[in-house]
Amino acid sequence: MDLIHPQVQAYAEKYTSPDEPLLREICDHTLANHPHAGMLSGHLQGKWLQMVSWMLRPRRILEIGTFTGYSGLCLAAGLTEDGLLHTIDIREEETGTAAAYFARSAFGHKIRVHTGDAREIIPALDEQWDLVFIDADKTGYIEYFNLVFPRLRQNGFILADNVFFHGDVLEEPVKGKSGKAIRDFNEYILGRNDLEKMMLTLRDGLYLLRKI
Ligand SMILES: C[S@@+](CC[C@H](N)C(=O)[O-])C[C@H]1O[C@@H](n2cnc3c(N)ncnc32)[C@H](O)[C@@H]1O
Repeated sequence: MDLIHPQVQAYAEKYTSPDEPLLREICDHTLANHPHAGMLSGHLQGKWLQMVSWMLRPRRILEIGTFTGYSGLCLAAGLTEDGLLHTIDIREEETGTAAAYFARSAFGHKIRVHTGDAREIIPALDEQWDLVFIDADKTGYIEYFNLVFPRLRQNGFILADNVFFHGDVLEEPVKGKSGKAIRDFNEYILGRNDLEKMMLTLRDGLYLLRKI
């Protein structure tokens, strides 16, 4: 399902600042070589992540789902001088690729890459989060949310990606285990009264949550 009309997408891309050369390189290389390149956030969402980071000037960011490093590099843009981004991926191949890109960026010294299951790594990180980006396996979203929420500072933000899951959440009955997991996550979030919520119709849907 085309969630965004291609003409609207192209128009928005045209009037958005282009990616910096390293982001462009990650994107091009991933598209040319990775069988699941569609997982990469891409230009518009990447710019949104950068803008959010610049707006918040966070000290601690957690990213769940590093992939080839594109979104992590975007999120790191607005970190404070003493800021750190922790990013987790279960696949060593991805964290190796991402770490090599991070090392070439201006933010390399502010990024900590963790390889392993986010369910095990998140509890071991002794941090208080200003911003969390949830973008790993969809069946884990509720668990990831519950692992990070106690350590999210008041007025801290969570962004959760793919909350339309390619439009599957609109189907009745909902298709596939990831589509179902995302719908369950969206319902779960809707039912909580300790969050301010906004679902952004950007790319595949981004849930923006503020801890009240
Ligand atoms: C959608 S991709 C992330 C895309 C990336 N954030 C970006 O925008 O470029 C999801 C990533 O989550 C990772 N992943 C899946 N299950 C995971 C788990 N249990 N713990 C950590 N990472 C996981 C996958 O290996 C994959 O690289």
